[in-house]
Amino acid sequence: MKKKKISKIIIGSNNQGKIKEIRDLLPKNIKIYTPKQLNIKSPKEVGKTFRQNSLIKAKYFSNKSKLPCISDDSGLAISILDGAPGIKSARWGGTNGNFNLAIKKVYNKINQININWDKKKIRAKFICALTIYRTDHKYITSIGIINGIISKKKRGKYGFGYDPIFIPDGSKLTFGQMNPKKKYKIDHRAKAFKKIKKFL
Ligand code: IMP
Repeated sequence: MKKKKISKIIIGSNNQGKIKEIRDLLPKNIKIYTPKQLNIKSPKEVGKTFRQNSLIKAKYFSNKSKLPCISDDSGLAISILDGAPGIKSARWGGTNGNFNLAIKKVYNKINQININWDKKKIRAKFICALTIYRTDHKYITSIGIINGIISKKKRGKYGFGYDPIFIPDGSKLTFGQMNPKKKYKIDHRAKAFKKIKKFL
């Protein structure tokens, strides 16, 4: 995709945590819209990979709004659970997106596999596929990954989703304990964004 100036963009998500974070990454001179403002509901995520779902959302929101779109599909992959919840990370929170429920499910599943897991390091990674989709239907997708471990307990009040149980490598704090400004600079979304920001 060739570089082209973008002055307006829709953030292709109805997840407030993601919107906040992507808003912070975008250049300040771009006018930002959200699906909620334009009354656009989310599409079904029928893809089999983060990359496919990210493109499904970006294309859908761009077509509906007639604006360029930046859209993310992301999730937590836990090694001992064979990469689950993965692309189903949001779905583990149920229809109301209850993250406490999703976190309980993570601990239950890990316990089912290894009752003494608190003595071990459970490896995990956050993955983000970010797509910029333009109104000329050209698009680009990039992937960002941050590695870490699962915290023995839920810690911290910041962020969203699985933030309170994820400790990135090199830190003692969970994402939930970390100042959001710091998380936004180092996480999977920031890494994916760095690779494609030149197309904005
Ligand atoms: P989706 O990309 O809309 O399908 O949802 C991604 C889900 O993954 C979110 O609802 C969260 O549960 C989880 N997730 C993705 N990125 C993060 C993050 O940065 N922190 C915590 N949870 C995340």
